[in-house]
Amino acid sequence: MDYQKKFNILCKYMKSIEKNRPPFEEYIEKMSKLCMELLEVEKCIFWMYDDEKDKIYSHATKNIEYHELDGSSGIIGHVIKTGEMRIVNDSSKDKYYNPKIDELLGFPNFSSIYIPLKHSNNDVYGAIQAINKKNHEKFDDNDDEMLMFVALYCEEALTSYFFEDELKELQNDIVFLLAELGESRSKETAMHVRRVSAMCEHLAKLAGFSDKDVTFIKLASPLHDVGKVAIPDYILNKAGKLSDEEYNKMKTHTIIAHRTLGNMHRKLLKAADTIAFEHHERYDGKGYPLGLVGEAIHPYARITTICDVFDALACERVYKKAWPKEDVYREFENQIGKQFDPTYCKIFLEHFNEFYSILAEYPDDKIS
Ligand code: C2E
Ligand code: SIN
Ligand code: SIN
Ligand code: FE
Ligand code: FE
Repeated sequence: MDYQKKFNILCKYMKSIEKNRPPFEEYIEKMSKLCMELLEVEKCIFWMYDDEKDKIYSHATKNIEYHELDGSSGIIGHVIKTGEMRIVNDSSKDKYYNPKIDELLGFPNFSSIYIPLKHSNNDVYGAIQAINKKNHEKFDDNDDEMLMFVALYCEEALTSYFFEDELKELQNDIVFLLAELGESRSKETAMHVRRVSAMCEHLAKLAGFSDKDVTFIKLASPLHDVGKVAIPDYILNKAGKLSDEEYNKMKTHTIIAHRTLGNMHRKLLKAADTIAFEHHERYDGKGYPLGLVGEAIHPYARITTICDVFDALACERVYKKAWPKEDVYREFENQIGKQFDPTYCKIFLEHFNEFYSILAEYPDDKIS
């Protein structure tokens, strides 16, 4: 097929997709047909890999059923495990060939080309398989390049489908966790976590974080104090100053959270782990639990620290009154490069009033 013809096919499909992103199955349908036309093959399957379950799922045009395979099945499993593309011009002779997959799919696979689908960090999230070159021709480097192009073109769209799913799941996880862990334990937590979340979202945006990072920090920051569930009431709700011993106990809330969240696999719960573990670190290295210094503290945590402390100063606590606005401002100025990341803190101070507006949206007295 000549270049012009290929180009026309690409344009046709891209136009139909660029305008607005269709639902996932429709998108796959279109991309499968695009591959079939471009490479002149009989079928095309988008295999999606779930690394937690170690399963591979087939997505293709409507006339091919949806199937689930074990992560190490056949040639496709090999491609996903190694992340290496593969051209197979006589499938039954390939050492990874598994005839059961052909049976399952309901058609023979004489020849195939497999291109892994990778995230930007090189993690493999699936593969495209173009099956049976028409007229029994052999696949060549041209086909390889074409399919590689499609794989790259799809990456952003495909990962955002997964990202949306992951977000929905995570939102449920968080709501569930928060409910489970009893917001009622401390009078502060309920509104405090909402304010910190909203302020983190705002500060992350101001600091130029990507949309994805803004979403991560917004959804993960409410869990920063989740470890306080294990802190006894007499400490958590003590009206006055904590003794050294009590304060030491309180500080373990970072480690307690890490014990649970540190085992999570979802990216966003990993973000929550990082935030919960590191939100009491200080830029100058005098924080806890590890005494991390400067950029060694994750950016999500450096943002959260600012919002968490702002909330602690600007709002009332069982152990203190709300500070006057000027005092809060002065304290933040004093803490630039000490308690706080200097860049983020300066941005915070430039938009100081906006953070007061966010506080006003979630007043403590809304707690029932
Ligand atoms: P919190 O009340 O949400 O406070 C969060 C953080 O705000 C504190 O973490 C601290 O880093 C910061 N912060 C509080 N007061 C000041 C201040 O005067 N200046 C500056 N620059 N930062 C301040 P920290 O100290 O690790 O405390 C963790 C949690 O321990 C607090 O969360 C609170 O729940 C509890 N806590 C700390 N001190 C006391 C206390 O004297 N009495 C009681 N009952 N609880 C306390
Ligand atoms: C992404 O992080 O881009 C997608 C999330 C996933 O890997 O499922
Ligand atoms: C302490 O209780 O010693 C720490 C006070 C604070 O920073 O909140
Ligand atoms: Fe905390
Ligand atoms: Fe907090």
